[in-house]
Amino acid sequence: MGKALVAREAVKYIKSGMVVGLGSGTTAREFIKALGELGPRDVALVATSVDSELLAVEVGLGDRLRPLWAVDRIDIAVDGADEVTEEKILLKGRGGALLREKVVDYMAERFLVLIEEHKLVQHIPARNPIPIEVVPWAWRSVARAVEAKFGGTAKLRQDGAKLGPALTDNGNYLLDWTPPGPVEPSLEEELKLIPGVVENGIFSKRRDATVLVARGDGTLKVL
Ligand code: A5P
Repeated sequence: MGKALVAREAVKYIKSGMVVGLGSGTTAREFIKALGELGPRDVALVATSVDSELLAVEVGLGDRLRPLWAVDRIDIAVDGADEVTEEKILLKGRGGALLREKVVDYMAERFLVLIEEHKLVQHIPARNPIPIEVVPWAWRSVARAVEAKFGGTAKLRQDGAKLGPALTDNGNYLLDWTPPGPVEPSLEEELKLIPGVVENGIFSKRRDATVLVARGDGTLKVL
């Protein structure tokens, strides 16, 4: 309900000729569906996951898809988030698409974040672990280094559907790290200094984002 509301509102930001970054996750899926239904046709789309790509094809936008290397800009990226603070620090990656999301969301001229109100938090992480994408071979050394340096517990994410670790679209593993308490935005960079870390779910560098929030009463708020 709330996801569909912010998704339809987000389509109003999409104009003819734009290069649009498609986020990933259930809210981004609502946006892709709404775009197929209501959006302009003459756009180029860059998907941040195979899931979003497949859905774009399903809703009739397959001929609009471009690989990232084939575009020279992203005019607007539209994505969901797991947690958002007042300062617009985001926690992302529950769906495992954080790496491609960060590439596209950070390079976009404008960044639109779509959430329901319960995802507004005082600090991150509030309820979710921090996802860390790692080179498979190094997962255990990274987990140990994170725990030794910053405390908390880092667990290898398991695939829900089969036995064994979850694989990202880039063929990597994910650690879900529960730190001992709230973290500083600078941790986004500090985590990357650990050899074997590819990316993490702290998005602290798009404080200029426009956040569309669906309230429980069916109204919308823009931050
Ligand atoms: C995907 O890896 C994530 O970053 C999602 O964007 C985030 O988890 C939000 O997903 P939902 O819209 O499904 O809550």
